[in-house]
Amino acid sequence: MTAHLVTNIGELVTWDADRPILHDAALVVEGGRVAWFGHRTDAPPADSSSDVGGAAVIPGFVDSHSHLVFAGDRSAEFEARMTGEAYAAGGIRTTVAATRAAPDEQLRANVARHLAEMRAQGTTTTEIKSGYGLTVLDEARSLAIAREFTDETTYLGAHVVPEGSDVGAYVDLVTGPMLEKCAPYARWIDVFCEDGAFGQDEARTILTAGIAVGLLPRIHANQLGHGPGVQLAVELGAAAADHCTYLSDTDVEALAGSDTVAGLLPGVEFSTRQPYPDARRLLDAGVTVSLATDCNPGSSYTSSMPFCIAVAVRDMGMSPREALWAATKGGAQSLRRDDVGHLSVGAKADHVVLNAPSFVHLAYRPGVPLVAGIG
Ligand code: NIG
Ligand code: FE
Repeated sequence: MTAHLVTNIGELVTWDADRPILHDAALVVEGGRVAWFGHRTDAPPADSSSDVGGAAVIPGFVDSHSHLVFAGDRSAEFEARMTGEAYAAGGIRTTVAATRAAPDEQLRANVARHLAEMRAQGTTTTEIKSGYGLTVLDEARSLAIAREFTDETTYLGAHVVPEGSDVGAYVDLVTGPMLEKCAPYARWIDVFCEDGAFGQDEARTILTAGIAVGLLPRIHANQLGHGPGVQLAVELGAAAADHCTYLSDTDVEALAGSDTVAGLLPGVEFSTRQPYPDARRLLDAGVTVSLATDCNPGSSYTSSMPFCIAVAVRDMGMSPREALWAATKGGAQSLRRDDVGHLSVGAKADHVVLNAPSFVHLAYRPGVPLVAGIG
């Protein structure tokens, strides 16, 4: 195995317990894993090296929530929202129609294109959900395509009840034949628990059916209003309750006493003109917080984790350090992964070299392409 030394790192973020952030540092990569990190002058000999000229190096972003398997465009819906219309999750059905009509090749190309955008902005691990098929065939092919790109695939047959279906019959489908065809391609099961989508009992039934066949639960919760989603996530030991825009004190307490990560998705509130979730309230209560893009054509059409960090810092009460943690280690915890989102010895060596002396520039220089390279 050959060792590669990355040296002259002005600021190295590892999230290691003893040395989470170092200056004037170096990193040794061997076999795709971090073999060593420390002060530049203490670096062991390596087979090759690169000098990053004082740049900051951070762990690759872990985007723990995206909906990349889709076709069609909803820019007109966004335009209408920006001139006063409210976001209604019913727009999901527009994407469902376009996705069903798209051949596999087109869906595959769309996923590849969005993943390339993500990578160019520093994302090295991405979760991808189904949810724009809503038939057995379309959900299964969405997941099969997603699986070509990532192991972090999520079955979201319970995104909305498709047009013309009865809720009860659709829940039977989602927990029966659809689950059977989708489970082989999925690691996770998700449900949109919200007024107008699935209620508490339906969401519990759906997640429980997934758990019974070995899928791990996560949930879209408390996005459009107060509701039971967060409490259900905690009850079922879900890895993530994502959105968390409207939370009661009881919701916050439940999250704080659990292993469920609160996933905040600033692109959604940006693009729907809803109030931003209060990250400070969650952090002060001791809740583990992740940041993700929720990249989808309706509520949040951004693939940019740096954009999410900038908004979280500017408008959600997070410090730059907390936001970077949430976008890396927090995302990894949301996906129950301990090999990504940090650069401790033994971790996957996914690292991002920034065109900046400090990670703080991710929020300080919003909208600027700061990724100089990915290793
Ligand atoms: O996470 N909330 C439900 N699903 C997506 C929105 C999907 C859409 O509008 O197409 C979300 O925000
Ligand atoms: Fe989502």
